Amino acid sequence: MATPEVLLSVRDVRSGYRNHPILLGVNFDVSVGELVVLLGANGSGKSTCLNTISGFVSLSAGSIALGGAEIGHLAPHLVFRTGVVQVSQKRDLFPDLTVEDNLRLGGRTRGREFIAESLERVYTYFPRLQERTHQRTRVLSGGEQQMVAIGRALVSRPRLLLLDEPSGGLSPQFVNEIAGIFGRLKIDGVTILMVEQDINLALAVADRFIILRSGTIREDRTIKGSTETKEEIVRKIYL
Ligand SMILES: Nc1ncnc2c1ncn2[C@@H]1O[C@H](COP(=O)(O)OP(=O)(O)OP(=O)(O)O)[C@@H](O)[C@H]1O
Ligand SMILES: [Mg+2]
Repeated sequence: MATPEVLLSVRDVRSGYRNHPILLGVNFDVSVGELVVLLGANGSGKSTCLNTISGFVSLSAGSIALGGAEIGHLAPHLVFRTGVVQVSQKRDLFPDLTVEDNLRLGGRTRGREFIAESLERVYTYFPRLQERTHQRTRVLSGGEQQMVAIGRALVSRPRLLLLDEPSGGLSPQFVNEIAGIFGRLKIDGVTILMVEQDINLALAVADRFIILRSGTIREDRTIKGSTETKEEIVRKIYL
């Protein structure tokens, strides 16, 4: 079997907030086309890790490379330009803009044709959004807003999609709907690093999971062929 091509390489990364070091030497890779889930307890630094990759939290040591090029010290808008696109835990939508305008914002650095093709693709992932293109985003349910947030990120056709708890605060029905798109994204070759606390969702969609604990990666393993039970994984995260 061919060796998978590494897209993201995180090496000895340290970062955090004034007087509060959070990541204390984090190491992992994400290969092209892979879906990796980052697990960890509340406050373990999962969002900090994604924010460090996307440039919103600055790196104090180590390196982050995308396709072999160092991106660790770039400002967030420059990281975005390399194709790393994040959907934050807060979603950060513009509630008074329509669904379609929010989606279009994801492609603001691209041309009309590029955006039109991307929108078409996003509507095939989330047909619900096509029925609501001209509605203001604030009237949508939480689950639909999450679809807009993921859709907006996809409009730019990211090389690496960073998702921070896509299931957060959603009903089981929406979690299922959102889970359903990961299979499609995989077929379309989208590479994803996702924080997810819903362990059932995580194990259902991921190729590999990594556990962040005490500022370092405690576990890094593929799902396929793993005999580990859910309880054993939960123990490693929390106990
Ligand atoms: N802007 C900030 N300034 C100072 N401390 C912060 C800031 N953001 C996060 N922290 C702290 O950093 C630690 C890690 O937070 P982070 O949000 O990365 O955790 P998390 O694993 O994503 O948690 P959750 O599961 O609750 O989303 C926490 O102790 C948090 O209080
Ligand atoms: Mg978080």
